Amino acid sequence: MRDGSQDSDGSTAPLLALERLPDGGLVEVEAVLDGDAESLVLFREGDVVRGWLNICPHAGRRLDWSPGQFLRSKEGLLVCAAHGASFELDRGECVAGPCRGESLREVKVQVRHGAVWLG
Ligand code: FES
Repeated sequence: MRDGSQDSDGSTAPLLALERLPDGGLVEVEAVLDGDAESLVLFREGDVVRGWLNICPHAGRRLDWSPGQFLRSKEGLLVCAAHGASFELDRGECVAGPCRGESLREVKVQVRHGAVWLG
């Protein structure tokens, strides 16, 4: 998969095609941010996609239990697989668990031409 890094011609590739992210779904993608490869969580709500670093503010662990496999609560919260911190998916704020009140680090993404891009 393209990962948002620079192509040899200097153009930037999309993170993924929008059709690969179902409405209400979460997906993990790799992207290069400031020269470092990072894992991101993308969440789609209709035509809007939000992105965060796949790093829990509690102890810095990945949120997924296996790459791209995220736990969700009955209420639709994103639940960190390590110690159960629960995040709402509007702003990425932890609303229950060991880092309540802290937030995931947002990564700006946008939908363009049927794909999700950094920026
Ligand atoms: S690292 Fe996520 S809850 Fe502890």
